[in-house]
Amino acid sequence: MLTTRLKDDNWALHQIAERQPTPGSLIKGTMPKADYLLVLAQQLLVNTALDAALKSHASNPHVSPLFDECQLLTPYIAEDLAFFGVDTDSIAPNPGTQRYIDHIEAHKDHPLHLLGLHYVRLGACNGNTFVARIVRKAYSLTDPTQGTRYLDPFGKAQRNQWVAFKAGIDALTLDQAQQDELFAGTRAAYVLSINLDLPEYTDANALLAEHGKSLDKSAFDEHHSVHVTKEMQEELTANDN
Ligand code: HEM
Repeated sequence: MLTTRLKDDNWALHQIAERQPTPGSLIKGTMPKADYLLVLAQQLLVNTALDAALKSHASNPHVSPLFDECQLLTPYIAEDLAFFGVDTDSIAPNPGTQRYIDHIEAHKDHPLHLLGLHYVRLGACNGNTFVARIVRKAYSLTDPTQGTRYLDPFGKAQRNQWVAFKAGIDALTLDQAQQDELFAGTRAAYVLSINLDLPEYTDANALLAEHGKSLDKSAFDEHHSVHVTKEMQEELTANDN
């Protein structure tokens, strides 16, 4: 199945991504709130670009069977920033954000590549349900609908939506080149996300060469993430079938 490839052949990049300073400090609860607001602000720019590009292909036969307006993440980020009283008119992209936006612009006529980028931001919501719990605790947010909607946009519906989205990808009829195009989008999304934390762009090969020896495939095989336990993983996936 295509989604098995998207998951298993990206395991190393997922592990590099979740070890970066931003996801790492969010899940450890060590990121200062002011920095969390900066992360949200940058994500607003990236997701605004991706939402617009994806929406322009909403009726494409490879996109329409899976696409739903509720998967557009910009409104959730805007809600979070409004909750914290952040002015969104004057956010300037940092270099990593600009690279991500440029990449989206360069692929705006490639719906399957965009679908790959979209797959990764929706997939990341799985781990982000755990991140959201820590963030709420760290910043004393008592209402789950306020301040962490970007991390946890779907609440209890998260897993059903994700399983349905993956089933939709597997139900597409794609030739090998089309599958490769979607896969390339997922890979690019991991690399661009990792690069959000890096001053100079580092491509996939350089990232894998740099981190390769310290990566732990058994952690991925057992519970997907270095930050979650087997029990947390089981809680997440309990009703998958
Ligand atoms: C603290 C950080 C993170 C944690 C704890 C985490 C954890 C997880 C967990 C538990 C899953 C669910 C695995 C399953 O379905 O069995 C998952 C899936 C996923 N995560 Fe993460 N993750 C983190 C960061 C990231 C980042 C930064 C990205 C993207 C750049 C990302 C992208 C994904 C994707 C695409 C999936 C779906 C994988 C697939 O089924 O293809 N994650 N993550």
